[in-house]
Amino acid sequence: MADARSTQATAKPATRQQSEAAAPHNVQHPFFAWLWTRLGPMLDRAGLAEYRKQLLAGIQGRVLEIGAGSGLNFPHYPYSVNGVLAIEPEPSLAQYGAAAAGCAPVPVELVAGTAESIPSADASFDAAVTSLVLCSVSDQRAALAELHRVLRPGGKLYFLEHVGAETPGLRHVQAALDTTLWPVVNGGCHTSRDTAAAIEANGFRIDRLTRLRFPDTTIPSPSSPHILGIATRTGGD
Ligand SMILES: C[S@@+](CC[C@H](N)C(=O)[O-])C[C@H]1O[C@@H](n2cnc3c(N)ncnc32)[C@H](O)[C@@H]1O
Repeated sequence: MADARSTQATAKPATRQQSEAAAPHNVQHPFFAWLWTRLGPMLDRAGLAEYRKQLLAGIQGRVLEIGAGSGLNFPHYPYSVNGVLAIEPEPSLAQYGAAAAGCAPVPVELVAGTAESIPSADASFDAAVTSLVLCSVSDQRAALAELHRVLRPGGKLYFLEHVGAETPGLRHVQAALDTTLWPVVNGGCHTSRDTAAAIEANGFRIDRLTRLRFPDTTIPSPSSPHILGIATRTGGD
C-alpha cells in the first residue's frame, strides 16, 4: 500500500486546493467516539453487519475508505481487494481502527485525514467506500468532489448511508433534530441529508440503489432511513 504522504505530494488540482480551504483540520468528538465503540458493535449484531457485507460484495482493486471509524467494515473486505487506504480524523476512533486494520483479511493502512482533503493522488483508486459518514462530514459537496478526484474514471463508489426520510412527518422531526441536539451528541451527524441526490450532483451515476430501514422498528428512529448502493465516477474517460 502506498504511503499517504508520498502520494500527497503529487496531487494538486483545483478541486483539491478548494476543498483544503474548507476542510476541518481537527475532528475531535471524544464523547461520540466513546459512544460509537459501544453502539457500532451493537448495531452490527442487530443486523448492520449483514448490510456491511452486502455493501462490500464484489468490490475490487485498490480501495479508499473515508471516515473508517473503529474499522467495523474491515472484516468484510473480500479477497478481490488488493489493499485499503482508510482515513479517519477522530484520534480515539483511529486507535480502534488501527487495531482492527491489523486483523483484516486484506491489507489495510489507516491514516489521519478528512474526506474534504484526501491525502492521495488523482485517479489513484479503483473504488471508494462511505458508510455512515456522509451524514457527518462538515462539507458533503467537498467530500464528494474529493472522492471524484481520487477515483479513476469509471471507478466505483460503494455507499451505505442513513438519509432524509421520504415521509413528511419524519422529515420534519429530522429537520428539527439537525438544528438542535442531534449533531452535538452524534459527532456532527445530520439525519436529513439527501445523500443520493448529492452523489448524483457531484460527478457520479448511481447504478444500484436500495432504500431500507434500519433498525426496522415500529416507531422509526430519525436515522433509520438508509440507502445502500453503487455509483460510477463519470467524466474523464
Ligand atoms: C457513525 S461513524 C461511522 C464509522 C464507520 N464508517 C462505520 O461505518 O462504522 C462516522 C465517522 O465519520 C467520521 N468523520 C466525521 N467527520 C469526518 C470528516 N470530515 N472526514 C472524514 N471522516 C469524518 C467520524 O470520525 C466517524 O468515524
